[in-house]
Amino acid sequence: MNINSLTTPCFLLNLDILEGNIKNFQRLADEAETQLWPMLKTHKSTEITRMQVEAGATGVLTGTIDEAEAVVEKSGVKKVMLAYPVLGKANIERIIQLKKKAEVYIALDGKEGAREISQALGSDEIKYLLILDSGLGRFGVEADNVVSAVKIIDSYKNLKFSGICTHTGQVYGVLGKEEVGSIIEMEVSSTEMAVENLKKSNYQCDIVATGTTPTFSEAIKSPYITASRPGNYVFCDAIQVALGAATVEECSLTVMATIVSHPTENLFILDCGSKCLGLDKGAHGSSLIEGFGTVKGHPELLITGLSEEVAKVKINGQTNLKIGSKIEIIPNHSCSAANMTSYMIGYRDKKIERLIEVDIRGNSKKPKIY
Ligand SMILES: Cc1ncc(COP(=O)(O)O)c(C=O)c1O
Repeated sequence: MNINSLTTPCFLLNLDILEGNIKNFQRLADEAETQLWPMLKTHKSTEITRMQVEAGATGVLTGTIDEAEAVVEKSGVKKVMLAYPVLGKANIERIIQLKKKAEVYIALDGKEGAREISQALGSDEIKYLLILDSGLGRFGVEADNVVSAVKIIDSYKNLKFSGICTHTGQVYGVLGKEEVGSIIEMEVSSTEMAVENLKKSNYQCDIVATGTTPTFSEAIKSPYITASRPGNYVFCDAIQVALGAATVEECSLTVMATIVSHPTENLFILDCGSKCLGLDKGAHGSSLIEGFGTVKGHPELLITGLSEEVAKVKINGQTNLKIGSKIEIIPNHSCSAANMTSYMIGYRDKKIERLIEVDIRGNSKKPKIY
């Protein structure tokens, strides 16, 4: 079946591009002798996780405990890092159970969280990475304060220091390739400083993990960084293209839509809206982006507005499109777009090959309420 006979809106996944992106990042990581621990929250798919592991990923990074449990259960992943601090007795109990099936690293950034986790663990123990703040200003401590943070957490004997982790997500707010370079410098220099400070106080980092898609290929060259954890690279998107971190040809995920109305000379209406494309302009806001997605092969079109199931498209000049034409849109932020569907339609050369399920989405696990 050809993709053009699909009903719209639908999520298309170009398998050649997807496989190329997975192979390319794995090759770069291997060449730099850096482990790859892909961030799973981009695709939330067991099948894509398997592809990453088969390509050579050492383990995975997860955004949620749901994701961590699901990959260990379904993808055969044996090593998992949790990206963000977790709290609460029920969650710690889930981590304890997970630890029986895989090597698990939690992320910590302070004393209060450490105390609560330590108490909930009881006689059990767990390995942790200290979150370093390399400029994002979200979780973590700055390089100057890593030693004091580890010393305090060390007083909880069941929390085992294994290294540090950081994420320069602020890269998504910069204005171009040059500024990406300064974020890479920040990522590398703050990481190196943190490792050196820890070494001086006899704390050995077994794992030094950093990573975002735009900074990946340069940051992994640092001999201090042992693990990289990019996520978006599997799909890429309009933001990566705007940052100069990917080309349109490297964007594997698109939303296909149909022009359902042509109310005025300069306006098309599509049958897809914010419930396919998402309203965000990147994880941390990007003023490089105009509109709500890039219409592939049609620079004369600009998506100016989204309702939930409808998009308004401004036509600048001549176009060969008309009512009934199907178009493909590269989302601004593919991680958000992929989270809007239960499956993506995998294809090659316009021929549909198989469905790829987005089977690890949030809240997929029902809570016990009785
Ligand atoms: C802690 C952490 N590490 C890695 C990533 C992956 O970054 P990217 O999707 O830019 O490659 C994220 C993304 O949100 C993250 O929060």
